[in-house]
Amino acid sequence: MSMAKKNIANNPERTEGQITRRNLLVWLSSVGLFGSAVISIFSNLVFIKPRATYGQPNRFSIGKPDEFPSGTKLALDQQRVCVVRDGDKLCAISTTCTHLGCIVAPSDTGFACPCHGSRFDQDGNVTGGPAPKPLPWYKLTMAPNGELEIDKSTEVPAGTYFNV
Ligand code: FES
Repeated sequence: MSMAKKNIANNPERTEGQITRRNLLVWLSSVGLFGSAVISIFSNLVFIKPRATYGQPNRFSIGKPDEFPSGTKLALDQQRVCVVRDGDKLCAISTTCTHLGCIVAPSDTGFACPCHGSRFDQDGNVTGGPAPKPLPWYKLTMAPNGELEIDKSTEVPAGTYFNV
């Protein structure tokens, strides 16, 4: 009997054609390490990916002009804008108070802030309270599909109406 065959015969972990305990443990360790590496890489990629929400878009559609009959003064609280229609003239005025950012509400005389009592006239000019600036007006355009679009990233001078 050769020396190698004698060692296999004496050592139960070194039988020919069978998986030894050592090989099984090496294989299981390798699978475990590889699996944990994959999970680690995946979780790091998930962590790196930004999950920020950016709130409402600056440019959004509000519908067809017919949905805003003359005399409309509709506050869209989510978008923080008030759509005003007077005859054929339409405009979009911010409802974010220029004092500390509360949402102003339309009132008989214009707009009123519930937080610290600022008052604005129909055009958004300050008429009372601590607000330092008038309410901004936003660009209002018509999209190719005939719907009105407000672009909150573009302010226009007060009194700039969109004519329908
Ligand atoms: S936030 Fe409007 S008056 Fe202060």
